Amino acid sequence: MSAEYQVKGNIAVITLNNPPVNGLGHASRAAVVEGMQQALQDEAITAIVITGAGKAFSGGADIKEFNSTKAFAEPSLQTVINVIENASKPVIAAIHSVCMGGGLELALACHYRVATAGAQIALPEVKLGILPGAGGTQRLPRVLGLEMALNMIVSGTPVVSEKLAKTGLFNQMLEGDLMQGAIDFANTVAATRPLPRVRDIKIDYPNHEAFLQFSRNTVGAMAGPFPAPLKCVEAVAAAVTMKFDDGIQLERQLFLELVQSTESKALRHAFFGERAAGKIPDVPEDTPLRPIKSVAVIGAGTMGGGIAMNFANAGIPVQILEMKQEALDKGLATIRKNYENTLKKGKLTQEKFEQRLALITGTMSYQDIAQADLVIEAVFEEMGVKQQVFKKLDEVMKPGAIMASNTSTLDVDMIASFTQRPQDVIGMHFFSPANVMKLLEIVRGKATAKDVLATVMALSKKIKKTGVVSGVCDGFIGNRMIEQYSRQAGFLLEEGCTPEQVDKAVEKLGFAMGPFRMGDLAGNDIGWAIRKRRYIDKPLVTYSKTADLLCELGRYGQKTGAGWYDYKPGDRKAYPSQVVNDMIVQHSADLGIARRNISDQEITERLIFSLVNEGAHILEEGIAMRASDIDMVYLSGYGFPLHRGGPMFYADTLGLPNVIMAMDKYAKGRHGDAWKVAALLAKLAKEGKTFN
Ligand code: 3HC
Ligand code: NAI
Repeated sequence: MSAEYQVKGNIAVITLNNPPVNGLGHASRAAVVEGMQQALQDEAITAIVITGAGKAFSGGADIKEFNSTKAFAEPSLQTVINVIENASKPVIAAIHSVCMGGGLELALACHYRVATAGAQIALPEVKLGILPGAGGTQRLPRVLGLEMALNMIVSGTPVVSEKLAKTGLFNQMLEGDLMQGAIDFANTVAATRPLPRVRDIKIDYPNHEAFLQFSRNTVGAMAGPFPAPLKCVEAVAAAVTMKFDDGIQLERQLFLELVQSTESKALRHAFFGERAAGKIPDVPEDTPLRPIKSVAVIGAGTMGGGIAMNFANAGIPVQILEMKQEALDKGLATIRKNYENTLKKGKLTQEKFEQRLALITGTMSYQDIAQADLVIEAVFEEMGVKQQVFKKLDEVMKPGAIMASNTSTLDVDMIASFTQRPQDVIGMHFFSPANVMKLLEIVRGKATAKDVLATVMALSKKIKKTGVVSGVCDGFIGNRMIEQYSRQAGFLLEEGCTPEQVDKAVEKLGFAMGPFRMGDLAGNDIGWAIRKRRYIDKPLVTYSKTADLLCELGRYGQKTGAGWYDYKPGDRKAYPSQVVNDMIVQHSADLGIARRNISDQEITERLIFSLVNEGAHILEEGIAMRASDIDMVYLSGYGFPLHRGGPMFYADTLGLPNVIMAMDKYAKGRHGDAWKVAALLAKLAKEGKTFN
């Protein structure tokens, strides 16, 4: 049942009932229209209340329908809205919890709106790359005024209902029972005629053109590659400059254009991808979780400190264990400095600053951490050191404690084998800076217990991370793929590119940073250490030696004041380096390579398609559960442009046969073996399918 019809005295009550958030899918829309007709035909009914069951009034249009014709099938949301607005009996929206998007547009078509406190009110369509397409841009300015409505529509940010209590949006704020309050209100307005309609309100905003121009300028400067924010301004402008029906028509036209745009499809993909990542098919959603009330972190280095901050930020006490007092003091001082910087920027209150610092304590004794519910190891990336630590943890930790490793490349199954309780061992791969980056790869070992996995997944939400499950392999999802990308970046240097040219091409595609600026930021010595190991473990894998030559020059990146680029003291700007460019040209000559001009298209295709092909292998092997998980890894951890939806989604939009055609071309060049098409990619392309 997608909406229920009940009669309470003389009042008809239509209750949206489409869990989880009463999305206005086709069946719900049809049920509302049916309920309206029934109420209008029943002479005993004097007014109609519309509300939502469960945890929302309505979360808006059913986004899942957007990729099908169902979204536009009659009765459309427009039709529902017209039926409500033109009803001959008063219609009252009884709002609670969540009233967003099409849900708010439906409420705005009602003659009256009552609400309880604490309801999240928003037109968040812009976050999905669209604009409110059922009258929201025309009606909201009529009840909130031009400025407030524009801010809400362009930002998509929810406003809590009590903050809007004094605006024209609500006729009454209710305390106590919503339904009783709404029915009482309905009885007081049952005889009122003519019925008030938001569309009839005149917007009074002298000199609106100046305000609109200011908005176009500021919004345009912030919108980046997304067309929706400026279209929102255009539609809201119509609310003051056009007749109501013309404004509605313009809004509709802009909405239809945006729904079809790749940017919106990418944002919708990311919305569902983030939610899908939390679902693990063989782990039931009601799996009992292990309580995590205290955490311990082993190692107070770059990662350990940032990891600890996540838990303190979520109000969970955390102990950090180090071997030496000096290292512990240094780690704790760095944490304090980080919080002080946030405090100085005004992003943290003094009270919270103190609370968070008080939650982080240091120790050098394993006995002190024995009762922690979760321990995360973040010591040096060496199996021998991990072995020592996990053996010790196995000895001291209380039964049932979860034991996690933050390793970025090592075998989590082997780490688990150092303990007598491999079922309690899991990988929690944070990204640097760990207190900032959204991504958390949750590495499921072959023995990891389901409740351990479910607990860590739930915890990732609590500490505001995007948790993505990965199987065990060298580099897991993200770093395993980035290795192929980095290899191509190195080969491009040998064949004719400069670091600047490669970075610019990738950044033009929308990446936050190209591979070489990224290397300079993260430290080129990290990759160097990994490659040295690989030269022994995987002698058949080829790499360009340019990155090794760079490190041999001591150019580790920003931390040494020089990397792929030159840096000036106190300035993070990257300046092209003659030394590096000469080194690269010399290296090409040593290899006997005639350097050539390489197009931006070749650069981006080689970098991105190498990600895609490795992603396909990762899917084939079951390391990632779904293509959207890979996209979430890249969107939340690697600065992949959001408007392109992640590497796998991007490949889908280009067309997989086109991707393969380009790969075949590159297979004829140097290191052609890198372009062997993954079986899954070949299969999907052949069947006319996509990854997502
Ligand atoms: N359509 C379809 N499904 C939706 C949905 C929607 N509008 N909003 C949420 N859902 C689904 C989610 O996919 C998720 O499903 P799952 O359990 O199967 O994974 C479930 O509802 C719960 O979502 P959350 O995990 O996000 O739950 P929260 O309680 O944290 O948040 C929410 C609820 C605030 C409603 C949040 O989901 C949200 O912001 N949703 C998007 C709201 C939105 O963008 N509305 C505008 C839609 S476009 C529109 O209305 C067009 C119109 O102008 C014509
Ligand atoms: P780091 O060198 O900055 O810190 C390691 C810390 O561990 C040092 O403070 C050291 O004193 C301490 N330590 C070493 N052995 C110890 C032991 N036996 N007991 C207690 N403390 C011990 O290293 P970083 O960068 O923090 O890396 C830690 C782990 O996180 C590694 O496994 C690394 O691969 C992983 N990682 C690193 C990322 C990065 O960008 N730096 C990103 C993601 C994971």
